[in-house]
Parts: sequence; C-alpha cells; structure tokens
Amino acid sequence: MGEPLLPMPTPVLPTKRRHFYRYSRFIFCALVSLLALQLFYIQSFFTVLYSPIPINAERTLARCRALDLLPGPSTEFYKRSESDRYVLGTRATLILNARIWTGGYNGTEVLQGHIYFDKGIIKGVGGLDVNIIKRLHSQDNLNIVNVEGAWVTPGIVDAHSHLGVLSAPALSGANDGNSHNGPVLPWLRSLDGLNTRDESYSLSIAGGVTTALILPGSANAIGGQAFTIKLRKTAERSPTAMLIEPPHELNGTFPVSGTVPWRQIKHACGENPSRVYSGTRMDTFWAFRQAYDRARQIKEKQDVYCKKALSAQWRDLGEFPEDLKWEALVDVLRGRVRVQTHCYEAVDLDDLIRLSNEFKFSIAAVHHAHEAYLVPDVLKRAYGSPPAAAIFATHARYKREAYRGSEFAPRILAENGIQVVLKSDHPVSNSRYLLFDAQQAHYYGLPENLALGAVTTQPAQVVGLGHRIGHIKEGWDADLVVWDSHPLALGATPSQVYIDGISQLELPYVVDKPNSLQNVPKVPNFDREATAAIEYEGLPPLLPDESYVGDVLFKNVKNFFVPGDRIRDVFATQNIDSGVVMVRNGSIACSGSETSCSIAELADGRGRHVRIIDLKGGSISPSLVSYGSALGVSEIQGEVSTGDGAVPDPLSVSTTPTVEQLLVRAVDGLQFAGRDALLAYRAGVTRAIVAPSHTGFVGGLGVEFSLGARHKLENGAVNQEVTGLHVSILQRSRKPSVSTQIAVLRQWLFTAHAQHNGVSAHLLDAVRGHIPLVVETHSADVIATLVELKREFEANTGLPLRMTITGATEAHLLASELAEAGVGVILTRPRPFPGTWEQRRILPGPPLSSESAVLKLLAHNVTVGVGIEEPSSAAATRFDLGWIALEAGGRISRSQAIALASTNLKKLLSGNRDNNTLDLVATQGGDLLSLESKVVAVILPARGVVDFF
Ligand SMILES: *[C@@H]1O[C@H](CO)[C@@H](O)[C@H](O)[C@H]1NC(C)=O
Ligand SMILES: *[C@@H]1O[C@H](CO)[C@@H](O)[C@H](O)[C@H]1NC(C)=O
Ligand SMILES: *[C@@H]1O[C@H](CO)[C@@H](O)[C@H](O)[C@H]1NC(C)=O
Ligand SMILES: *[C@@H]1O[C@H](CO)[C@@H](O)[C@H](O)[C@H]1NC(C)=O
Ligand SMILES: *[C@@H]1O[C@H](CO)[C@@H](O)[C@H](O)[C@H]1NC(C)=O
Repeated sequence: MGEPLLPMPTPVLPTKRRHFYRYSRFIFCALVSLLALQLFYIQSFFTVLYSPIPINAERTLARCRALDLLPGPSTEFYKRSESDRYVLGTRATLILNARIWTGGYNGTEVLQGHIYFDKGIIKGVGGLDVNIIKRLHSQDNLNIVNVEGAWVTPGIVDAHSHLGVLSAPALSGANDGNSHNGPVLPWLRSLDGLNTRDESYSLSIAGGVTTALILPGSANAIGGQAFTIKLRKTAERSPTAMLIEPPHELNGTFPVSGTVPWRQIKHACGENPSRVYSGTRMDTFWAFRQAYDRARQIKEKQDVYCKKALSAQWRDLGEFPEDLKWEALVDVLRGRVRVQTHCYEAVDLDDLIRLSNEFKFSIAAVHHAHEAYLVPDVLKRAYGSPPAAAIFATHARYKREAYRGSEFAPRILAENGIQVVLKSDHPVSNSRYLLFDAQQAHYYGLPENLALGAVTTQPAQVVGLGHRIGHIKEGWDADLVVWDSHPLALGATPSQVYIDGISQLELPYVVDKPNSLQNVPKVPNFDREATAAIEYEGLPPLLPDESYVGDVLFKNVKNFFVPGDRIRDVFATQNIDSGVVMVRNGSIACSGSETSCSIAELADGRGRHVRIIDLKGGSISPSLVSYGSALGVSEIQGEVSTGDGAVPDPLSVSTTPTVEQLLVRAVDGLQFAGRDALLAYRAGVTRAIVAPSHTGFVGGLGVEFSLGARHKLENGAVNQEVTGLHVSILQRSRKPSVSTQIAVLRQWLFTAHAQHNGVSAHLLDAVRGHIPLVVETHSADVIATLVELKREFEANTGLPLRMTITGATEAHLLASELAEAGVGVILTRPRPFPGTWEQRRILPGPPLSSESAVLKLLAHNVTVGVGIEEPSSAAATRFDLGWIALEAGGRISRSQAIALASTNLKKLLSGNRDNNTLDLVATQGGDLLSLESKVVAVILPARGVVDFF
C-alpha cells in the first residue's frame, strides 16, 4: 500500500513591509516553527484518518488488553452467594456436631461444631446459631445431619488422574490418555477424550475424592492441556458439565477485565517421552526448547503488536499474531498455565528447571518425582517459585527412574520446605484409596497436618483452585467428607460425601469403628531410616542390622499370635495383658506372664546373656507371606534385564513346546535380596511364593523362598523348591481364546493321568493332588468352567484335584459353589477395582456394600488368601490385613486376618501342610496390623536366629 498523498497547504502570513526588516528574523523563525508544527499535526491527523483501522479493532484491542489479565479468583469471587455449579433444588444442609479439619492454619485448625451449606457454598463453620439457620428454611428445605462427633474434612482433590481418559474397565474403545502423534502436542485437550462412562467416578467418590485434575498421559514431552473436574454426576451428563472454572479458550472467548481462570498443561520428562517418542532425553529437551522458542516468538510478536494497537498505530499492523496450535504454550509464557510435569530423576528435574529459567515460566508441580527428595535445591532454583512435588507415598521401583524412590520422600521434602502433594495417577493406583497414601506418608513421618493437606488443601492450590476447594471455610465450595474414623487412621471410610452441597452416597454402609481410631495414630519413629535414605542417595542398606544367635526376651508383649491349625492369640485366651516371650536360638522357648517365664529361670544360672527387647505393647505374630507380584523374579518391572524374563507362551509360538519344556521352575530363576524384597522383610513379610513370570497361559512351578536371604545357598533361603503348578487363563486380546486355553489344560490333565510316562513328575503331582493347580483368572464364567473341569476330572479319575483360583476378582459371585467344590481363592487385589472387562463385577465394600469379596468368601467357608500385584506393595501387606479386619466390623478376628496372608496362602499355594515352619515377627507399639507399630525383629526358627532392624 502506497503513501497517502497529502495536500501541502501554505500558511498565509500577515506582513507589513516596513516592519519587515525589524521582524524578519522573528517572523522567519515563527514561520518555520508554525509550518513544522502544522505539518506535524496535519500529518498525524491524516495518518490516523487514513490508517487502516481494522474492522475488528475493538475485538483486537480487547484481546490485547486481556493478555495482561492474571489468573486467579476475581475480587468479586468471595461475594458470591451461589456457586456457578449450584444445582437448582439442592437442599441446604446443616451438619451438626462435627470435628472439622478445616485445612486452615497450615492444616492445624480443628473446629468442634457445625457446618452449614446452601446453594453449593459453605455458609458457616464452627459455633453456629442453629436456630437462626433453622428459621431461614422451611423444614423440607433443610437437611439436618447429626454426625455425632465424626471427623469432617474437605473433599479429596487428586492432582494427577487419568480418570475418564484411561477408563475402567480398560477397553480399546476408551483408551484416550496418550496420543502417539508426536513429542509436542500442546494443542490437545484431555477434555476431548473424557469418557463419562468410566466406572471409577462413583468408586472414587466413595473414597472421598471430589475433584480431580485429568491429565493426558506421559508419552509426549508436551502431552496437552488438562482440565479439572468434579466427579459427581451432572444433569447434563456431559464432560463439559463436570468442569470447574473452565478457561475461556474452550469457547474461543476472552475476558475483558478482571482475572482469568487458570489453565493446565501436561509435560513429561525422562523415560516415557524418550522411549515412546523422542529417542533420548536430549531429544526430548530439544523438542521442549524448540516448542518454547516458537511460543516465545509468537508472544514477542503479540506484545509488539499490542503495544502498537493500544496506541492506535494500526498502520501496517495486520492481523493479531497468533497460532491456535501454540496458543497454550504462549499462555504458559504469560504465566497463566499451571505446568504439571511428570519428571522423576535428578537429571530430568535439572533439565526441567533449566528450561523453566531459559524460557521464564514456572512449574506448578513435578509429578512422580521419585528423586526430588534427593535434590530439593534443584527445585528451589526454578523460575518463579519452587514446584510442589506430587508423589506416591510408597509405590516405587517399578522402573529405573523410580528405583531410588523412598517412603520417606514426603517427610524429607516437607522438611526442605517443598510443598507435598499425594496423587493417584489413577488408574495406575486407584484414586478411591488416595487417602491411604496420606496415612502411609504419615506413618513414615510426614506430619499430620501436612499429610491431610497433601490430599486436600495442597493439591487444590496446585491446580489453581485453592480459592474455592480444599478448605472447609465460609465461601468455599460445599465439597466435604464425613469419615467413620480419624482420616489418618487405617481404613478410614466416608460415611457421606458432599459435592457442590449434594450428598453422593445413597445408602452408605458404615462400620462401627473402635474409639481408638477417632484419634490420629501415634506413629513410630523412622528418623534413622530417613537419614539413611538421604545418606545413601535412595539406596540405603536394607539387610538386617544383625542376625542374632542367642537368647532374646521380648517383654511387654500384648498379643502373641501363634500359628497352628488356626492362628490364635494365646495371650488373649490366657488373659495376659502384658506378657513375655522368650526366644532361644530362633525358636520360642517359653511364653506367658513375667512370672511364668522369667529371665532368671531361662538364664538357667549358667550366666547366659539374655537380650531384652521391650515391645511396648506390641505383638509377636506369624510372619506374612507375599504372593501375586514379581517379587523374586524381577527387580525393576520396566527393565527386562533386571529379571528372569518371561516363560514363552506355548499357545503363541508355531511349534508347540512339550509339557516338560514348559514346566519351568521359578526356583531356577530366583533373585535374592532385591529392594522390594528387603523392604517387605523389614515390614514382617518374610517369605514369598512366586510363579515364573509369564504373559501367556503357562506359568510353571512356584517356589517359596525367604525375602531376607542374601542368596539361594544360604541356610533357609528356599523354603520349598516346588509349590504349585501355575497357569493363567485370561481374556486377552491377540491371545488364543479362553476355550482354547481350557482345552489345553483339560488335555494335559487327562493325558497326564492316562500315560504316566513322558509327563513331568510335577504335572503328575498336580494331577494326583500333591501340589495345587493354581489358576490365575478373574471372570466368574471362567471360574465356573474350572469348577466344572475339576468335577469332570475327579469323577473320571477318582483323584482329588487341588485347585486354587488367584486374581479372582469375580470369585465372590460363586462363593457357595467354590466352597462346595473345595476350591480356594487368593484375591490379589483385596480392595477391588474393575480394571478390565473380566474384573468388572466387583463387590466394592463399604461404604457401597456391607460385604466385600474377602468377607463374603470367608462367610461361605472358602479358604481365602490375600495377595498383591506390585512388588512395592508387599511392605504394606500388614496394613491390607489390618484394613480387612477393621472393615469386617467384628465378623473376623485379627488372627483370621493374619491367616489371610500367612497360613492360608501356604495352604492354597503349596503342598506343604506343615504348620510350624512359619517365621515370627516382633512389632513394637502395636500389633502387626496397626499403623502404630514398627517391626523390630524377625524370628527365624529354621536359621536359629533373630534378625534385628
Ligand atoms: C506447616 O507445618 C509444618 C509441619 O507441621 C511446619 O514444619 C511448617 O513450618 C509449617 N509452615 C508454616 C508456614 O507454618
Ligand atoms: C465462555 O467461557 C467463559 C469461561 O468459562 C465463560 O465465562 C463464558 O460465559 C463463556 N461464553 C459463552 C458464550 O459460552
Ligand atoms: C543354641 O545355639 C548355640 C550356638 O549355636 C548352641 O551352642 C546351643 O547348643 C544352642 N542351644 C539350643 C538349646 O539349641
Ligand atoms: C461355615 O462353617 C461353619 C463352621 O463349620 C458353619 O457353622 C457354617 O454354617 C458354614 N457356613 C456356610 C455358609 O456353609
Ligand atoms: C497342622 O494342623 C492340623 C490341624 O491341627 C493337623 O491336623 C496337622 O497334623 C498339622 N500338621 C503338622 C505338620 O503339624
């Protein structure tokens, strides 16, 4: 476009010839000045007049002004009298007599009193005048609930969830968590894949979760934008209706004044994006830098553009520079996006913080961050403020970058002033039980106020919604949970959950909990272990400090559980409240009251030294056994080279291997003294029974081994070389059909019976009922088929077939049939989750049902064992059992609970019926199943020693 032609007007100046000389200089100067001035004004006038002011100038200007608006609540926000999420017709609620953990004062504020909420908002907390509130509403419009002293907390906020995008049950038609279209995808939105049919919404609500940040997966450096939702059902039934404070970009608008809602974006460093897409960590970070460089250029162009536009210099300005693909990253650079970064190791964290400083954006949280506790100073160097660490309490070592993860990370991070958030990564861990992470973090040393805050106030702040959720405070959203015990007590379960003031549990089943659970547990001291975790950079020595040969007297023992046909608490039957147990060379020498089993008597006058250990009201009980994970056959699940490898699947290879070739023995591939094994050992799980790793039908022969042994040749390292014969019959894609797998199994059994020669002796053992046939399967239909197969085999051969079903999610549907058929069941997820189609018919347990699978099967006299899935869960087995015992509300004893992961597992998995070979565990401060106790010693009769920690 050419210059506009400007007419050049000549000013007419009045002059008088006679004064010309006198004033000529002055006039000349004035003329020049005037001319210049006029030219200037005229030029400006015409510039403006002829400048191409775009038609959409107003919109562009508004847009430019909006660039400076900051995220967060507006000043008007707290004046709201009704929530934007209020559902018309929701009754006001008055909760009476609550113990209210408000989240205030750094999580230390507890109020005794009432909570009143209406129109989706909390309107009063604490000492309220109930009569005034009652007068405000007609009787029908006020829901009054007397919770009689129960604990009430804000709803749980999960800052890292894939609920709805990695759906349960997992089906290929609902797998929307990871795009594989490149390392940098800031334009994707998790909302676009949010499946409202995920079974997890109602299950997670039943665990007290009210809000979740739904993140795309971690296959990409920049995986896309994330959205925060409330989990409750909406009238509209749409993903959009679940959003809290959605950003304007969703509908292509922008605010004209005030503030903007926070946006969220997912980043990932380390193994996942490198492996899946980029190639190496170097490639991933180059991908990041390239993307941010692009965003920075756009941002700079916008800033220059807006500076001109706002001063009306439209000439040559053109269109507002923008690119829909990059706008989210530009907003990151404008400080309006919470950057949630999956990032584990020192190297990754360092890379990320360097990136944040190079491009000047801050990171809301580093997620998983298994090494963050080792490098807090790196986090403190971040641009802006240090990111929070959003971590698991104990789930670790599943891949290389998680190998140095520590159960002490939450407390160490907090001690270093880093904000701690506990998250589920649902469905990686079931967010329904996110509170259990807070309980465990507290157990391992995170202070009470921070442990509760880590699942409520802290994540609320990290997702940018601290102004309305995460607190019980006037003006905040009415999202709260009424608990059946102190929330940090083991097994705490909601008796009601409110979201936007709407109660979520229709007919909650609540167990009567003992009063002792209404207070925060007095957890043991782990200072020494936490210090070692740092000193050894996450790999502290875990072998026992000492294997003691000699006499040990345990005093102040409250419970003494002894194995046998049934586990019994002998002190309880003898009415001994505080007894002693004397151990000589690893075996019980005597037990009872101090008088009946005295030191003097034992010392035998021979001057023998007796070591005395005060258990401070603790217990001695049979040690636990672990089953179901790769403990002993794989050290790091994500690294094939750290394990035995998998048994080939005979039904997937072209030439079918012989039965003998397939009956591999797990004992031949065993690995000792792994980190999860030793951590489990220190937590009272002294043995594991494991089948060879397999992905197909054939498992092979199991083995029972000691988790505390250093190697296979050590005395007592292998407890039983061959336990059961394992097969898996699962509904897998791209695998032979279930009916094919059953056909092969049937053929094996009958062939083995018919022709003794040429068949492995172990298969024959199984056929003759000497060792159990252990079948991993979940579907009730497959289980029914197996029961029939057992009947058919037994009817035809007259031999008993010992059969155990493991996994067994749907076994509860056949409780009486299994009991009648004499088939035992091992639940490898005692707290169920409908992870796959064949696991979808769960019995959820309280507060959704009074029965749980464990209790129902036990009630039908099925022999039940409890297992695990992940090696790092082994150490928490004692809490799994404690939880079952509490949830049973008296229907089973603590002895019966211990049996589930000790004697029953042995019974179900091995042919060995010897009752006396179990090790014993000594705990201090409480019994083995309690969050108040610590394992201090393992008593090993086979080795004749006591291991001390
Ligand atoms: C919050 O509580 C923790 C642990 O109880 C304490 O260490 C920290 O100093 C407190 N922070 C503030 C700001 O009071
Ligand atoms: C667009 O989204 C913003 C932010 O959520 C909202 O305030 C606005 O009302 C929406 N506008 C329309 C037309 O939907
Ligand atoms: C205990 O072990 C010691 C050392 O091995 C041995 O001398 C002693 O005879 C053992 N005592 C018993 C009762 O087995
Ligand atoms: C389970 O066994 C107990 C004791 O033998 C018996 O009283 C009870 O009736 C049995 N329950 C069922 C459902 O068979
Ligand atoms: C285990 O206990 C059962 C029931 O008391 C008993 O019949 C069996 O003989 C015991 N086994 C051994 C090896 O002691």
